[in-house]
Amino acid sequence: MEKKEKLNSLADLYVHELKDIYSAEKQITKALPKLAKAASSDDLKKGFQEHLKQTEGQINRLEKIFRRLGESTSGPKCKGMEGLLEEGSDFTEEPASAEVLDAGMIVAAQKVEHYEIAAYGSLCTFAKLLGYDEDLDLLKESIAEEEETDQKLTVLAESYINQAAEESSIIEESGAGRGKSRR
Ligand SMILES: [Fe+2]
Repeated sequence: MEKKEKLNSLADLYVHELKDIYSAEKQITKALPKLAKAASSDDLKKGFQEHLKQTEGQINRLEKIFRRLGESTSGPKCKGMEGLLEEGSDFTEEPASAEVLDAGMIVAAQKVEHYEIAAYGSLCTFAKLLGYDEDLDLLKESIAEEEETDQKLTVLAESYINQAAEESSIIEESGAGRGKSRR
């Protein structure tokens, strides 16, 4: 167990949640280069690389907020993000066609985005209530980027990646097959 922090007020909870998303963003910066490397679609690869730059900017915004609050950035590791990223990286190690792997990485990335959107959404609500207007502006910039990323992933999946995955599985089935050979 991590050492107990006091959570007596909404302001305490705000700091607690800031530390959670900070840990999540830090973990994401380590995962994105691996996802970019594993992606076959150039659009998806580029998407992951662009989101890495955005994530670094989001970390800078959070650090600005911590400085304003006089709080350190250190806190417990975000276990939710750890689990989501672990599922994503386990998936990239499965035997899969390149197209199915791309489709699966989009699923994993969208789960990550939705976690972040939920976190930033609550932080925006708290900052507004607490009268932390400067924080609110910064948090709104980050949530807008996460929402945009989520939408871009949907467009990529629906424009051709899911279709390519669907076609790749048909080819595998009608061809010699992989894994167990049937005789
Ligand atoms: Fe993020």
